[in-house]
Amino acid sequence: MKYGYFDDQNKEYVIEKPDTPSSWSNYLGSTRYGAIITNNAGGYSFFKSVAQGRFTRLRFNAVPMDQAGRYIYIHDAESKDYWSTSWQPVAKPLDQYKSECRHGSAYTKISSDYSEISTETTFFVPLDADYECWSTKVKNKGSKRRTLKLFTYVEYGCNWNAGDDLNNLQYSQYITNMNVVDSIISHASNVNLPEMPDDFEEKDQARYTFLGAVGVEPVAYDTDREAFLGPYRTYANPIAVEKGQCSNSLAKAGNPCGTLQFEITLEPGEEKDFAIFMGIGRAEKEGKAVIEKFANLELIDEEFNKLKNHWHSKMSQMSVQTPDSDVDSMLNMWSQFNSLMTFFWSRAASLVYSGARDGLGYRDTVQDMLGVMHAIPELVQERLELMITGQVASGGAMPVVKPFAHRPGFEKEPTPEEFRSDDALWLFNAVPAYVKETGDLDFYHKVLPYADKGEGTILQHLRQAIEFSIKYSGAHGFPCGMLADWNDCLELGQEGETVFVAFQLRYGLKTYIEICELLGKLESEITWAQAALEKLDKNLHDHAWDGEWFLRAYRDDGLKFGSKENDEGSIFLNTQTWSVLSGHASEQEQKSAMDAVHSELATDYGVMLCAPPFVKTDYKVVRAALFNPGLKENAAIFTHTQGWTIMAEAMLGRGDRAFDYYKSTLPAAYNDRAELRQIEPYVYCQSTISKFHPLEGASRLPWLTGAATWAFYAASQYIIGIQPDYHGLTIDPCIPSHWDKFQVSRQFRGATYQITVTNPNKVNKGIASIKLNGEIIAGQCLPLCAKGSQNSVEVIMG
Ligand code: GLC
Repeated sequence: MKYGYFDDQNKEYVIEKPDTPSSWSNYLGSTRYGAIITNNAGGYSFFKSVAQGRFTRLRFNAVPMDQAGRYIYIHDAESKDYWSTSWQPVAKPLDQYKSECRHGSAYTKISSDYSEISTETTFFVPLDADYECWSTKVKNKGSKRRTLKLFTYVEYGCNWNAGDDLNNLQYSQYITNMNVVDSIISHASNVNLPEMPDDFEEKDQARYTFLGAVGVEPVAYDTDREAFLGPYRTYANPIAVEKGQCSNSLAKAGNPCGTLQFEITLEPGEEKDFAIFMGIGRAEKEGKAVIEKFANLELIDEEFNKLKNHWHSKMSQMSVQTPDSDVDSMLNMWSQFNSLMTFFWSRAASLVYSGARDGLGYRDTVQDMLGVMHAIPELVQERLELMITGQVASGGAMPVVKPFAHRPGFEKEPTPEEFRSDDALWLFNAVPAYVKETGDLDFYHKVLPYADKGEGTILQHLRQAIEFSIKYSGAHGFPCGMLADWNDCLELGQEGETVFVAFQLRYGLKTYIEICELLGKLESEITWAQAALEKLDKNLHDHAWDGEWFLRAYRDDGLKFGSKENDEGSIFLNTQTWSVLSGHASEQEQKSAMDAVHSELATDYGVMLCAPPFVKTDYKVVRAALFNPGLKENAAIFTHTQGWTIMAEAMLGRGDRAFDYYKSTLPAAYNDRAELRQIEPYVYCQSTISKFHPLEGASRLPWLTGAATWAFYAASQYIIGIQPDYHGLTIDPCIPSHWDKFQVSRQFRGATYQITVTNPNKVNKGIASIKLNGEIIAGQCLPLCAKGSQNSVEVIMG
């Protein structure tokens, strides 16, 4: 079934049927003021941290899953009928109530049409603002005069600390203090304590938000949830809305809410515009300033356009036109926007992530950069440097870096039991990708502190990552699994070894050698790395091959994972793909391993993480056994890994298969059967349930996932084949043979390249010729062109 469509022109996903299988959400704002909004205006807002700065409330995993939210109720003064400007929460019958939700780049527009009244509300956070705006139009489409009473609703947290707000009720229910100052609602908690705005770990401090209106004059208010809703009622039928009158309640404890009541009269055909602003700060200061600033409603449109242009220009650094419109919808907007939001919010803020994973998990964060490098290189640099200072002097990394609390030079080194073996090695993906995008070769020489003590150039940081992996290696010469090795569920023991990280280490060594060659005068480093690489290759050759594919790991007592000897989990995906990505495997091994992936792990909905699932295996061997077969790490389609699968097939030149894999987890490809996947057809998710479970195809945990970044990276660099390189832009597509032509527009280091690729001989891979501005070039790397220049590139495959 179809609930909506992609409006590619406007970079929007349009939901026409509001009763989606789950709440389909979007993100507003930035890492200062962030917000989640669903197709029914549910969701929450937070400042800096979703765990420590959540000032509106969402009860996670409640029924429905997205309430409360940002609601506007309408009460008809004559008929006494009432509804909401989003279908939920009043939920009028859908044969009478029409709605449309347009999710766009950091904004959402929700419109409604009911009882001859139409509304449209645009929700967004202006650039660099610490407040959100709900810009609303209400129109009388009928032929008689209408008098309408309007009510806003947000439900506040009592404490910005989300855990305390929901759990520590004996405290949090006694600390709020609501006021209304010059018609602006003031929401305050802990008012008798000092404010400590820079200390986000301190939950016991005074904090303030405001909610006010422009374009309409409030006639009444409620700030006490119980007074507004009434006992035994829900958001669907608040007593104040039913009666058409607020009671001017001021919550001095208990549960606060933000309701302003307005009255508007509309002649036939008349339209009224107004806006609600909610934000951080005191009503009398920041609130008043915002309301005064937007007294002229036209400024809202200006701010809105600024925001839209901001994100559209970031994403238009790369755009494509291919024979496949699903690919275009994803690559030109949603795959990029998904990667951006994942970069911003890591694994902290969504309808599933409630802030319990606050801060930046090392491995995920370093990978999340890859999909946004071209769009926001300055922010990537800042984040990358932060993460590099999260590496300790011994070369391992802190599992989590908290941007609002991190103190390089003063952090405690994790114990060997706390390290994850893969964390710091992801720098070999992110650092060169940053330098290749920007051309900033000096970045390798930049000196940054380690988390615990001392400092080193970024090149030295990279070397330390290698040293760390070598130091903590086991009996077969592979890095130890430690607490986890990308897969959080393998229990290898402290001395157990991971073949996956061995491949990562090989990739690291290969990359380190390339960097040293590039920088020059580093022969001794090259010799050192070369020797380590040869030794590792020998160990991999002797101990990692299982006959048809590569093993996954050795437990510390020698038990193998991912071997034919195992009844369960006899093949794992990641070591097959990384045997190719790392450059270790011979051609024959690569083909054999990737063919085994195809025969043992590939399904219509993507490639499974391992198979067969763990049913009899003790959870102490692999914690995946805690999940039912076909779920998460227990043989689901763990989408984070799909990009590597696509890349490996593309490296083998098998473009049809690479593309089949890409399409099998492409969200847009499920738009016409969205009920199957259940989640948003415009975003990636952590996993899709596999054939070992009755809900095969259903997908879980949308938005914040490594799948976003790797899907974009794999598609743009390995299928479309536009790869930033140190000295230019390499063109190396690997496409399905039925594609006869595609176009790419890419901005790279200030120049624009308009690239047209034709495929007259229906090949998957291979370049017959490349012309840059009419001149044939040698090789596949476009030289750098002048900043500001427009360049046409004609590529013929063959
Ligand atoms: C989750 C984690 C990620 C991990 C993966 C596999 O996605 O966020 O860090 O690699 O699970 O266990």
